[in-house]
Amino acid sequence: MRLVILGPQGAGKGTQAEYLADKYGIPHIATGDMFRWAIRQGDELGRAVKDYVEAGRLVPDELTIRVVSERLDADDAASGWILDGFPRNLAQAEGLERLMRSKGRELDRALVIDVPEDVSLRRTLGRRVCENCGATYHEDRPPRNDWVCDRCGGRVVARSDDSEATVRERLRTYHEQTEPLKDYYRERGRLLEVDGTASPEEVFERIVAGL
Ligand code: AP5
Ligand code: MG
Repeated sequence: MRLVILGPQGAGKGTQAEYLADKYGIPHIATGDMFRWAIRQGDELGRAVKDYVEAGRLVPDELTIRVVSERLDADDAASGWILDGFPRNLAQAEGLERLMRSKGRELDRALVIDVPEDVSLRRTLGRRVCENCGATYHEDRPPRNDWVCDRCGGRVVARSDDSEATVRERLRTYHEQTEPLKDYYRERGRLLEVDGTASPEEVFERIVAGL
């Protein structure tokens, strides 16, 4: 299975990608997670993307496409993958199509998880993530012990781009640049739209039924 997941901030792309990766035994590849990891390491990629990510703006396409292309070449991605948060505009969608064509592969589905703006804000402003392994929590569903990750014992904190002003900027970019990709994938017969306003388990059932 080769699947891309699109959707506004806090729609549950990362949450559902984890479930799907488990179910299908394929890697969950999230450009946002890769960028945040690089920023934490302070490496060359991290230095190149830091200002964009922290301001809630898109990292330049050429760099983003290169990062994805290299990741898709890894052995664990040979039999499928779930791309979370990529593509985010027409240039990236076309870049992915070229990449796949060059490998003789096709995208199976483009999943769009939709939620209204008030849900986006509530979920992102309450979100907490493990700064070590990336596990995701929420103020309403914290880890068992005092903001210590259940999975790895790391510190659980708010994401630096989850302030209200930055989330609003990210939403603006989503509507302007990413949402038009619905038409792109609809025209190619690949679009699967799912309403993300239910429990994570129920949204997952809807996705699996749709796939
Ligand atoms: P990225 O990390 O991709 O952020 P995003 O697209 O803004 O999406 P989020 O991660 O905020 O939301 P999500 O849908 O994954 O929600 P989650 O599952 O965590 O990108 C960050 C930045 O990196 C970008 O702004 C940009 O700068 C850069 N970037 C990344 N990709 C790029 C690209 N392709 N090109 C250029 N730049 C790029 O859920 C949110 C919260 O809600 C959690 O607390 C979760 O527990 C909770 N939750 C989830 N589902 C439910 C549910 N069903 N019910 C109740 N709560 C739920
Ligand atoms: Mg995410």
